[in-house]
Amino acid sequence: MLKKAGHTVTVYPKDAIILRAELLKGVRGAHAILSMLTNRIDEAVLRTAGPQLKIVANYAVGFDNIDLAAAKKRGVFVTNTPDVLTDSVAVFTYTLMLAIAKRIAEADRFVRSGKYRGWGPKLLLGAATLGRTVGIVGAGRIGSTVAQLTKGGLGMKIVYTDVKRNREFEATTGATFKTLTTLLKVSDYVTLHVPLLQSTHHLIGTKQFKTMKKTAFFINTARGPIVDEKALVQALKTKRIAGAAIDVYENEPKLTPGLAKLENVILTPHIASAGLETRQRMSELAATNILQALAGKKPKNLVSY
Ligand code: DGY
Repeated sequence: MLKKAGHTVTVYPKDAIILRAELLKGVRGAHAILSMLTNRIDEAVLRTAGPQLKIVANYAVGFDNIDLAAAKKRGVFVTNTPDVLTDSVAVFTYTLMLAIAKRIAEADRFVRSGKYRGWGPKLLLGAATLGRTVGIVGAGRIGSTVAQLTKGGLGMKIVYTDVKRNREFEATTGATFKTLTTLLKVSDYVTLHVPLLQSTHHLIGTKQFKTMKKTAFFINTARGPIVDEKALVQALKTKRIAGAAIDVYENEPKLTPGLAKLENVILTPHIASAGLETRQRMSELAATNILQALAGKKPKNLVSY
């Protein structure tokens, strides 16, 4: 799309996270940057790019990797890719919820390691989902879709928390609004769908895990640093909660020591939105935002101001 419109496009050639020095070198003189969530776009990157820079189009719905204040100061647009990945992330979350409840990864490891000696009535017993309560932390696009899937598909009761009540969400899912503490107390499954902000950093830690039911499961497909990962490891190790399914980590791609050794956790590598169609739609949206900004228009998915 960008080349067709006559723009010169430089694509990082390796399928790897760009080293800081290469990022700084690569952005020099650019009018637009199409960034990944693994690229920290801060004042140094914006300054190095130069005053001609018009837009940073993030290839993600989250944009915690970008210094919005620095971009605003420089008059640089920042955009994201909302909506197009909602279904992918919500379905992935729903899948993780079922997979941890039904011990799918653990059962797979069990069979592969030759431990399966025949059917048994107590073998790898899973947790119930029908009629159980799912607590949705963040009733935005993804949280709402997870609520619809769990209510419609599993007949679950929905409770939610957010910075303010979302009447439409309540009307479509029958969800009831709770404080975070009450949500943690009453939920059988807790799933995070808030952005990473200063106010949500370590929103879930030791105290919150202690508030949850011992039989509850915890799912995070939002951002790693919303959770104190050491506290999560401790909660899983001591069986303070029943299990967790985690797609995002506090210090990606590193894991807190001990996490990968636990049986009662499913770990996936930040792939909740990973689908070919979804990725194509994210690309198109990011390119559209760039084309709009370079044509002197306000881009569609502006997040900065
Ligand atoms: C996002 O978009 O923020 C996801 O984490 C990656 O697609």
